[in-house]
Amino acid sequence: MKELYETITQALVTDGYVVIENALDTDLAKELLNFAINKTNYKQAGISIDSKLDQNKRKDKIHWLYEDNSIQSKFLEFSKSLQTYLNKELYLGLSYYESHFALYDNGDFYEKHLDAFKNSKNRVVTTVFYLNDDWKKEDGGELIIYDKYDKYLTKVTPKLNTLVVFMSEEFPHEVLKSNKKRYSIAGWFRVDKKEL
Ligand code: OGA
Ligand code: NI
Repeated sequence: MKELYETITQALVTDGYVVIENALDTDLAKELLNFAINKTNYKQAGISIDSKLDQNKRKDKIHWLYEDNSIQSKFLEFSKSLQTYLNKELYLGLSYYESHFALYDNGDFYEKHLDAFKNSKNRVVTTVFYLNDDWKKEDGGELIIYDKYDKYLTKVTPKLNTLVVFMSEEFPHEVLKSNKKRYSIAGWFRVDKKEL
């Protein structure tokens, strides 16, 4: 695991983003997929208070992770260790991590956006962890990452156990239309105080 944290840290310093295949334990990824599939209470995700506007930009449904004794806690443990590592090595001052399962149904997408605005002092580092076994090219749903000048950087297939990490304020990104159910965990390390 130490190696993984080091890889992420170095990549954030040199490139600001990283895509890692087979990032965690495969069994953990599979168990998270089953957990995500069995969840029934996904809620329509929103971007702002104007829900009409939201749903033109973003179609996914979400379910927030929380600490319990289930498999989601294992993922949260990973995020905690990464947070500690990033704070120690890069002095990012990350205060907490929030994350949600996301379900994109057939036809769903997420238009190009930034996860945080410049100097907003909230979301600093984004993670996306993919949970889809046997994802084919025709299934679509790729994550496209751009640089701060909006130049295309890379395309990520949302396949099981692929982890993407990037600086939230610097990389516009979008999710192309998915042609089947697409599961992931999107998360953000933040620097503000957690609201209870
Ligand atoms: C997000 C996001 C990307 C993905 O939730 O902000 O950009 O591939 N997700 O699920
Ligand atoms: Ni995003």
